[in-house]
Amino acid sequence: MTIDRVGVIGGGLMGSGIAEVCARAGSDVVVHEIHAEAAQAALTRMERSLARAVEKGKMEAAEQSSALGRISISTDLSDQADRQLVIEAATENEDVKKQIFADLDAVVPSDSILASNTSSIPITRIASATTRPDHVIGLHFFNPVPVMGLVELVTTVMTSSDVATRAEVYMETLGKTVIRAQDRAGFIVNMLLVPYMLGAIRMLEAGVASREDIDAGMRLGANHPMGPLELSDFVGLDTMKHIADVLFDEFKEPFYASPPLLTRMVEAGLFGRKTGRGFYEYDPPRT
Ligand code: 3HC
Repeated sequence: MTIDRVGVIGGGLMGSGIAEVCARAGSDVVVHEIHAEAAQAALTRMERSLARAVEKGKMEAAEQSSALGRISISTDLSDQADRQLVIEAATENEDVKKQIFADLDAVVPSDSILASNTSSIPITRIASATTRPDHVIGLHFFNPVPVMGLVELVTTVMTSSDVATRAEVYMETLGKTVIRAQDRAGFIVNMLLVPYMLGAIRMLEAGVASREDIDAGMRLGANHPMGPLELSDFVGLDTMKHIADVLFDEFKEPFYASPPLLTRMVEAGLFGRKTGRGFYEYDPPRT
């Protein structure tokens, strides 16, 4: 059964990016938000991103309006009732996600797939909030979703192989390359990327080099598009700390522990681009 009716829970940076790529691939998408203002903000974000794609020559103007025509916004979870795949991209909080999955489980047909875009919370725990753990998987997208080519597909000991295959085929129709990981904190990419970024913060904290030199080192010396401190600001320092805490909790390895500088910055509300200040300053803040 092909997937052409998709739901996305949460229209923030990741959710709106996921909804956009699904609509671009021809799916009908319903984006759920908790209130009307947030839903409208999600729509504006998708409109802006699609306009940027046209500006950058990635898409024709006609394609932009047909993609937008396939997206609707909603604050009523029952609008997900006919979805074949629902991708949750809400806030990175285990209790919130479990509640969403329990609510979705009651609304969405029992043969539909429920996926989480969590960057670090074990899918098994999220699946345990439903009566269909065999139909629950992780689909981890990367920011900015329309640009990044990867999706991590995370299966648990309960996931049915047919569900994983259906999800993988659908991700390929979005133009994404799928890599598969077992259900361990950080999956593949964040398990490697986050300790590297934490290492850069420790280097800055120890006074080994300036922020600019650390970033230039990895941009020019390793051909990364962004240095580790720029990338931390881009990902969000609150998100980074959260992932570090989950990794440390799972593996108890010191290199996953949040350095005191990161902890203090998060406590001070310096989250990076989105708040206007992290390791660099952004005026105005960039969302
Ligand atoms: N739709 C489609 N394509 C778009 C687009 C859109 N809305 N907006 C931009 N693009 C394309 C551009 O056309 C361009 O393509 P080209 O290289 O073929 O010309 C490309 O995207 C880059 O766009 P820009 O030239 O506008 O921007 P930059 O060159 O400054 O690149 C960046 C910006 C893509 C963000 C780049 O700096 C980058 O790749 N940074 C690293 C991002 C990264 O590592 N993300 C992963 C973070 S970790 C994560 O998400 C996991 C989570 O769990 C923490």
